[in-house]
Parts: sequence; C-alpha cells; structure tokens
Amino acid sequence: MLIQTQKKIASSGITSLEHYVDRRRFLKTSASALVTGSIAAGCFGTDEAEAGDPDANRIPRKKLTFEKPSDPGMRTDEELTSHKDATRYNNFYEFGTDKSDPARNSGQFQTDPWSLVVEGEVGKPGRVPLETLLAPHGLEERVYRMRCVEAWSMVIPWVGIPLGEILKRFEPTSKAKYVSFETLYDPERMPGQSRRVLDWPYREGLRMDEAMNPLAILAVGMYGETLPNQNGAPLRLVVPWKYGFKGIKSIVKIRLQEEEPATSWNVSAPREYGFYANVNPDVNHPRWSQARERRIGSFGKQPTLPFNGYADQVASLYRGMDLRRHF
Ligand code: MTE
Repeated sequence: MLIQTQKKIASSGITSLEHYVDRRRFLKTSASALVTGSIAAGCFGTDEAEAGDPDANRIPRKKLTFEKPSDPGMRTDEELTSHKDATRYNNFYEFGTDKSDPARNSGQFQTDPWSLVVEGEVGKPGRVPLETLLAPHGLEERVYRMRCVEAWSMVIPWVGIPLGEILKRFEPTSKAKYVSFETLYDPERMPGQSRRVLDWPYREGLRMDEAMNPLAILAVGMYGETLPNQNGAPLRLVVPWKYGFKGIKSIVKIRLQEEEPATSWNVSAPREYGFYANVNPDVNHPRWSQARERRIGSFGKQPTLPFNGYADQVASLYRGMDLRRHF
C-alpha cells in the first residue's frame, strides 16, 4: 500500500518516517498530515515538547570522564545543537513514533543492569555485563554531525569508544565480513514494540571494514553525561557518514557473520532505505531531495555534503562501488 510520488518536494513537505510507516501499515494518517508532515513542525526546535516536562520523571544521568582527541576530523567546530533539541526531538520508535514521544515515554526505562551478547564469527563469544565491556577502554568525546534521512541534521558531542577496539576483544575470525546489531526486544519496557510499525527488534548492520573505521563508535554518553534513554541508553552506535537510522540504540546483541545482515528499515521499505545508507546529496530519497538539510535550531537550509563531510576518512571504503545503487 505504498503511496509514493517520484515528484521532488520541498523538505518542508516531507512526510517524516513515522507518518510514512503509519500510513503504509494502518492508513491512519490524515490527508493534511500527508501534505505537511510532522517534520515541518519540529525543525525549528521542539516547542511541542514544552508541554509537560519529560525531565521530571527521568532517571538521573551520570557525569563522564573522557579524552578529547585532537584530530579535527573527529571534532567539528560547528555550533552544537542545544541539549534540549537533541534530547526532545528524537526517533526511537520503541517509545512511540512522534518526535516528542521518546523523551516523554522513556523516562523510567531501566538500563542497569545491562549486558551485551557478542556471537557468531568470533573466537571469544559471550554475554558481557556493560561495566566489563567498558572497563578496559578510555572514553573519548567525538563531536559529529548527524544527518537524518528525513533531511534534518544536528551536531552532537558523543562520548564513547571506537567500535573496532571493542570488536577486536572478541577476536573476529576470517569469516567475519559483516556486523549485525540488535536492540532490546521487550514490549513491556518498550511499549512502542506492541505496535507493528517495524519488524522488531530494530536491527542494523555494517560491513566489517566500516565497523573498524576509527570514526565508528559505540556511544555511552552525550554532552558529557551518560546517554538519556531517548537517545539510546545505555549503548548505541554512531556512524557519522551514514544516515541517522544506522545509529541503532539500546543495543543488546552484536553478531559477526559472513553474509550481509537484514536491517529493519531495509526490510520495511527496501526501495527507500538501503543497507549502506551513506549520506549522499546526489541520490535523492524516492520522495524528496537529499541535496540540502535543515540544521535543527537554525533557520534556513544548508547543502548536504557527500558522506556527511567525512569523505576524506571513508570514501576509500567504497572505491569501485556504484554509490547510486548502494545508497
Ligand atoms: N534505534 C532504534 N532502536 N529505534 C529507532 O527507532 N531510530 C533511528 C536511530 N536509531 C531508531 C534507532 C533514527 S531514524 C534516527 S534519525 C536516530 O536513531 C535518531 O537518533 P536521536 O534520537 O538520538 O537523534
């Protein structure tokens, strides 16, 4: 029941992911929402989230200690998105499909204790408590642009550990060509999973060489504190040269494998969301242009950069590939 148009539309007219999914699965969205879409309401900040204070019942965050790498490729000096916007304007469908739902509905989500299962093509598989996973590593702050496939962007100071450093500890075998990630599946704790808006649990994946690139991190914090629940506590993926939906939240399982893993958005809408999902201003989404983006908190739009501005660090990973096909 796809309702699509190949005609280019202004990003103010983009129907956001949540409305698209709702429309496809339930045909519940009103005709006016099809025209305006909720992205238009949210792009200039989160006025909507002012109603009721989502901070009132949230579990307190902890301050983190971290290094600040000197490599300018890992720390953009662009203005940071405000903490408020970054924590009130979210996509986390496990807590609802509206941008303000995750902040409102995830406050009491318990993430302690937490453990991660690492399995598949590794010499040392196992379930590891989060503290044990993090213990041998120092934390780093990375200030990255985040470009959502919906044509908005933010600049966020993440705190985390290079994904490659963590994977190495589990001793990948020579057959480990891809990494697959899975979010917790627990509809009692994540009420959005009771609705079949996606094929739960949320799954994402990377090629092994992408996962080993130093830009890819597992984040445990942002703005100097442990992650708020709505941003993917206690552990999420951050891959800044890819569209934001690759940044899977609240990860409980990592599997190294020989075959390309199935990923949630690609399974739901294969024509719209690819496995690679590298930010590319030259490949439009079937329903809107990807040439420009709206920085949340600012007015106007700015050009979107190939690989979200990280081409020097990652373009070589895709040499010889047709990037139009591998969006
Ligand atoms: N991870 C899970 N488990 N569930 C989700 O719905 N949404 C993705 C990604 N990770 C999502 C997820 C999308 S579409 C985006 S744009 C980013 O998270 C948003 O991250 P943020 O809310 O921290 O800005």
